[in-house]
Amino acid sequence: MIIAVDGPAASGKGTIARALARHYGLPHLDTGLLYRAVGIAVLRSGGDPSDEGDAFRACGFEDTLLSDPGLKSEAAARAASIVSAHPVVRAALLERQRDFAHAPGGAVLDGRDIGTVIAPEARAKLFVTASPEVRAQRRFAELTGHGLAVSYDHVLADIRARDARDSGRGIAPLRQADDAALLETSDLGVDAAVAAAIALVEQAR
Ligand code: DC
Repeated sequence: MIIAVDGPAASGKGTIARALARHYGLPHLDTGLLYRAVGIAVLRSGGDPSDEGDAFRACGFEDTLLSDPGLKSEAAARAASIVSAHPVVRAALLERQRDFAHAPGGAVLDGRDIGTVIAPEARAKLFVTASPEVRAQRRFAELTGHGLAVSYDHVLADIRARDARDSGRGIAPLRQADDAALLETSDLGVDAAVAAAIALVEQAR
């Protein structure tokens, strides 16, 4: 069974996707990491994420980069959001994601375009969201919890900018697939959100 989990930044989709993978015993791919790897590879080579050529050259990153702690940074997130708007970058990362989705037995993938582009045939599709303010609050708590000095207003502005870029791009924009179930997590804690996600997957099975 392929489970597609899409949604905006800090919506909780990663936590939900990991929990679903554990629950169903399936492998999980956080596809945002691929775009973050491209973004950070561009920055480290002194390139410009908005330059298509720089971004495309960075798509040949080494697999070891996928476990680099730098991928979690806000700089990587911003660069990822910029490089992901280049069609050549999306094309370069497509096969890898489709191969993962079609592993025997199935898989859970989370991202922005899993239910619409990568695996439109997925049996279960969730679109996980929450208000920008709630998502900013979660990201703020996470960053300050790691000892980083950031302001809530800055985090909120960053989330809004990413939403606009991810939803407004011409190719594979962030959007709920027509056949995806909406999971609004603004008023849900982690356990309740995971339980709701499992219930939605069960309905789709
Ligand atoms: O999920 P994330 O925050 O790690 O994603 C980082 C950026 O990567 C996001 O702003 C847009 C891009 N992305 C994408 O375009 N398509 C995906 N399937 C996953 C991420």
